[in-house]
Amino acid sequence: MSIASAPDPGLNPLPRHIAIIMDGNRRWAKARMLPRTLGHRQGVNAVREVVRAAGDMGLEVLTLYSFSSENWNRPADEVSDLMGLLRWYIREDLAELNRKGVRIRIIGSRDRVAPDIVALIEEAENLTNANQGLTLIIAFNYGGQDEILSAVRGLARDVAEGRLRPDEITKDMIAGRLSTAGIPDPDLVIRTSGEKRLSNFLLWQTAYAELVFDDIFWPDFTKQSLLDAVAEYQRRHRRYGAS
Ligand code: IPE
Ligand code: IPE
Ligand code: MG
Repeated sequence: MSIASAPDPGLNPLPRHIAIIMDGNRRWAKARMLPRTLGHRQGVNAVREVVRAAGDMGLEVLTLYSFSSENWNRPADEVSDLMGLLRWYIREDLAELNRKGVRIRIIGSRDRVAPDIVALIEEAENLTNANQGLTLIIAFNYGGQDEILSAVRGLARDVAEGRLRPDEITKDMIAGRLSTAGIPDPDLVIRTSGEKRLSNFLLWQTAYAELVFDDIFWPDFTKQSLLDAVAEYQRRHRRYGAS
């Protein structure tokens, strides 16, 4: 199945923003009796394929959930592998992504993240900041509830200091204090591995996203998997509470 080439009035237009919960790396490895670290490594290859496909498709924004604020609860050696993979991905791919006009943003807390990774994140963001192609957002050490909490704290501070009245607070003000400020909300959220939950991902921003669940494990996700999810999205009827 591929994306409809001619616009069909019955289909949604292509999504502007796709957000992916890349899940199932360890089960992929386990099914092959491989160490879990190889599952994570293979997951990076799927990332590469999907980023390329998103660029080819002319997508505006692709957000990838790569490490949640709860993933610190995993064994220390696994956490360290996952940190190492981000380091490796940025080092290996930054120049090429920049050449292709990709604008990189990393959302999530920088607390507990090693200084050299923070430096790499800043380098990637600064180098690609003016690019006009795909915006690639990596949610790393990210938690949706934490993000809303810090937005609310900021607004509460403004109220406490007399700059704002509680009844003046709007949804846009909350959205404007999230790490995704200025980015359109995801139209489509894809989760692999058969799990059907958000796991603290973009809780505010996904209020009206279409959710597509794919049973395959993330390392097996391909360009075609992405196109299939988009085709499914295009057939959905988005109502936003209306008729
Ligand atoms: C996704 O795969 C990667 C991260 C959450 C970092 P998992 O590591 O969660 O693999 P499963 O879901 O246990 O198979
Ligand atoms: C969600 O996957 C986080 C990422 C994909 C980075 P998890 O595997 O951590 O989520 P749960 O534990 O199944 O909810
Ligand atoms: Mg998982």
